[in-house]
Amino acid sequence: MGGGSAGQPRLLTSPTEMRDEVLAARAAGRRVGFVPTMGALHAGHASLVDRATADCHEVAVSIFVNPTQFGPGEDYGRYPRMLEADTRLLERRGVRWIFAPRVEDLYPAGAATRVVVEGPALPFEGAIRPGHFSGVATVVCRLFTALPADAAYFGAKDWQQTLVVKRMVRDLGLPVDIVVCPTMREPDGLALSSRNAYLDAADRGRAVALHESLLLAERLWHAGAAVDAIERGMRDVLEAHGVALDYAAVVAAESLGPVPSQPTAAVALVAGRLGSTRLIDNRELPPRPSAD
Ligand code: PAF
Repeated sequence: MGGGSAGQPRLLTSPTEMRDEVLAARAAGRRVGFVPTMGALHAGHASLVDRATADCHEVAVSIFVNPTQFGPGEDYGRYPRMLEADTRLLERRGVRWIFAPRVEDLYPAGAATRVVVEGPALPFEGAIRPGHFSGVATVVCRLFTALPADAAYFGAKDWQQTLVVKRMVRDLGLPVDIVVCPTMREPDGLALSSRNAYLDAADRGRAVALHESLLLAERLWHAGAAVDAIERGMRDVLEAHGVALDYAAVVAAESLGPVPSQPTAAVALVAGRLGSTRLIDNRELPPRPSAD
């Protein structure tokens, strides 16, 4: 569609104003795309904005560091906040609205409602970060009411998050198309993430292990290796680089359950810590004739 407004994006904090603007644009026949973010924008976010701009007449980006998706002791307090730099990046991309609410704009005092997704939200990140996906689902649902776009754009780097959001949208019948866009990477393969900024030089060097473990998984998958042999190979790569492993797994791409024996798309998932920085990554694996 090749939309995109010329000039300054309009910065809004009020959910009511945001909603009125989006509804007015849609009533005028404009297709609206929405990119939800927590700010500290990088080329991965820019690629989501570019995809939304290609698909839609108008694009809105939310910047909101959502307290309800961080657990105790996680990095909510130190999560990078850089609205000015983010605004400059978005100006260059023809975004029409930046929605940057305060916590109290999205969560009224005494808020007692949370959205809880089960199914794809339970294993992996859901098990390691209790309450995380409920926080994500709650804020995404809240953002969708404040910003009732035609389509919303999410990065495949957070594979499990995309499954959780798609399931919530399906189960609650929310009228928005979910578009999942490819992961953007550094030249050495490290997936772009706002949290990469936490890595010191030594840990930054070691962080490439996540991508290397996924490339190994892909090679072994195509060679017909058994799932447990692939997972062992991934673990070896990560441990050799000193990554404190949370998980390295090959599972069915949509259910995150065991890979069945019939041809099924799978995904290799990896998560681990380098110093105090936690990184996740994944790689889709196409269906193969026999998984095990
Ligand atoms: O992926 C993110 O940046 C966040 O989880 C999201 C979807 C913006 C919700 O806070």
